[in-house]
Amino acid sequence: AAGAAGVVIFNEGQPGRTDTLAGTAGEPTVSIPVVGTSFAIGQELAAAGTVLHLKTDTISEMRTTENVIADSRWGDPNKVVQLGAHLDSVLAGPGINDNGSGSAAILEVAETLAKVPTRNKLRFSWWSAEELGLLGSEHYVATLSAEEQARTKLYLNFDMVASPNYSLMIYDGDDSDATGAPAGPEGSAEIEKLFEKYFDVLRQGHVGTDFTGRSDYGPFIGVGIPSGGLFTGAEGIKTAAEQALFGGTAGQAYDSCYHQACDTIANVNDKALALNTGAIATAAVVYGFSRDLPGP
Ligand code: PHE
Ligand code: ZN
Ligand code: ZN
Ligand code: ZN
Repeated sequence: AAGAAGVVIFNEGQPGRTDTLAGTAGEPTVSIPVVGTSFAIGQELAAAGTVLHLKTDTISEMRTTENVIADSRWGDPNKVVQLGAHLDSVLAGPGINDNGSGSAAILEVAETLAKVPTRNKLRFSWWSAEELGLLGSEHYVATLSAEEQARTKLYLNFDMVASPNYSLMIYDGDDSDATGAPAGPEGSAEIEKLFEKYFDVLRQGHVGTDFTGRSDYGPFIGVGIPSGGLFTGAEGIKTAAEQALFGGTAGQAYDSCYHQACDTIANVNDKALALNTGAIATAAVVYGFSRDLPGP
């Protein structure tokens, strides 16, 4: 694709990583920031006359895909409490922990609460194409009207909630662990505190995890919607302190099958899944009935 506009190249990128695409002798080398797992070669590069020689082992193709959104029958439509999990997986494997786990957990909560007349409206969302760069959630948030956006009071994200070598991680709404990561919008710390309280009541340890932008909360925090959620770890390595809190094996990945063919039904920790599903149900009920939702 020599400078062609609109060509989409898929690769296994990481946010913040820059891929360097070397030109042949005498041609410029360009660096392209990789967003999620896809990026586009835009008009700008083509217009600038840049010649790109791209090598990729994944052939791109166009597909249409859909988010699945389910609203509760009851509840004030001006006060929407939204929960989400991505339903897609990477091509490499079946994606059972990433993210059958979160998808199944919110489905279970949706079914359980289906006949409960909450004060606020619950909106369950199963995002498409997260693995291609948060495409489903980006599209959803980008196409909300200003009114619909204002009605969305908070967003809770569940991506990988049953990692085999899990840590129980709660999105850090206020950067209280001072890693310098961006804090969430106002109200996000209050959501973090609810999840902390749930685990505290169970005498169960928990740790914070930064809003890195690597999952579907990204577009929501991008427009200032208070956000939170749970995570049990991906390719990161469990620390000794985490082993003390959760068992498992320090020095090994939280999910050694992350984005691989072995992310099968065998790649699920039942205890983590049960604890997190309980936390999701608790948050859905608390925020489903709250008169005073987090946020400004
Ligand atoms: N979104 C990542 C994926 O689907 C996993 C992830 C979730 C990483 C949350 C960091 C934080 O592969
Ligand atoms: Zn993934
Ligand atoms: Zn995921
Ligand atoms: Zn915090």
